Amino acid sequence: MNSIRVAVHGASGRMGQEVVNALCHEPNMQIVGAVDLKAAEDYLPLPDGSGTVPFSSNLDYILTACQPDVLVDFTTAQATMPAVRITTEHGVNLVIGTTGLTADDINEIDRLAEAHQVGAVVAPNFALGAVLMMHLAKVAAKYLDFAEIIELHHHLKADSPSGTALSTAKAMASARGKPFSTPQQGKTSDSRGEQVEGIAIHSVRLPGLLAHQEVLLGGAGQTLSIRHDTISRECYMPGVMLAIKEVVEHKGLIYGLDTLLGL
Ligand SMILES: NC(=O)c1ccc[n+]([C@@H]2O[C@H](COP(=O)([O-])OP(=O)(O)OC[C@H]3O[C@@H](n4cnc5c(N)ncnc54)[C@H](OP(=O)(O)O)[C@@H]3O)[C@@H](O)[C@H]2O)c1
Repeated sequence: MNSIRVAVHGASGRMGQEVVNALCHEPNMQIVGAVDLKAAEDYLPLPDGSGTVPFSSNLDYILTACQPDVLVDFTTAQATMPAVRITTEHGVNLVIGTTGLTADDINEIDRLAEAHQVGAVVAPNFALGAVLMMHLAKVAAKYLDFAEIIELHHHLKADSPSGTALSTAKAMASARGKPFSTPQQGKTSDSRGEQVEGIAIHSVRLPGLLAHQEVLLGGAGQTLSIRHDTISRECYMPGVMLAIKEVVEHKGLIYGLDTLLGL
């Protein structure tokens, strides 16, 4: 079996570096090129010491020179959409982890992937455990009448509540099909977090944390807690590697790791 040839967009970023490292250790995959705004050298040394790959801030040049099967993108929402246009024109498949894409952006990725007959996986969360947590929360939402979410992240996180917490609340409400019960709030309602679909979301921001979420459900005489903890960025790599393997077998858009896992 031929190795899948992969280039990384955003290769100098926190996630990009993790992807480059994971690719060096993945059988049947080969990193063939890297792109980043910060590319100062023409070649990127690989972290396992196995050599170098072409490195540039010019995506078009890397796609032409390195002929990858897949481009993995962990950059910014502003950088992703121009990259999608260039990459699909080259007939190269896409795995996109960048967050902050709008519904219009997702529709445009779908349209471009179909038009150029390439595969595109877009997943706002590549952590298998986080996707399973959301799936289990959806199952539980049908059976327990009260729910709250506590999400905890590092103090540099820009947004709150987190995108994962918002998606979890919306998915739970949709799976339940009727409103959650809400407690009597009285005078302290402002301190009861952000209310989304009848679920209070509480956001904690502290140095020392990475990304954590606990979904708490309650019924008469019982509670159920479903918790996911991200210990390091390594947790995203099995999901990213799975997406690379799958995307070369598909045409068009696959949205979400849950879809890829068949959940
Ligand atoms: N899907 C998931 O599971 C998951 C998990 C974690 C993070 N994320 C998302 O992944 C994205 C990256 O996160 P991160 O923590 O790795 O951020 P980061 O450390 O800031 O890395 C982003 C990299 O992309 C580069 N970049 C920005 N614009 C570019 C452009 N036009 N062309 C080429 N490179 C460009 C940046 O260069 P400069 O520094 O020079 O601007 C930086 O090196 C974010 O959207 C984050 O929310 C997703």
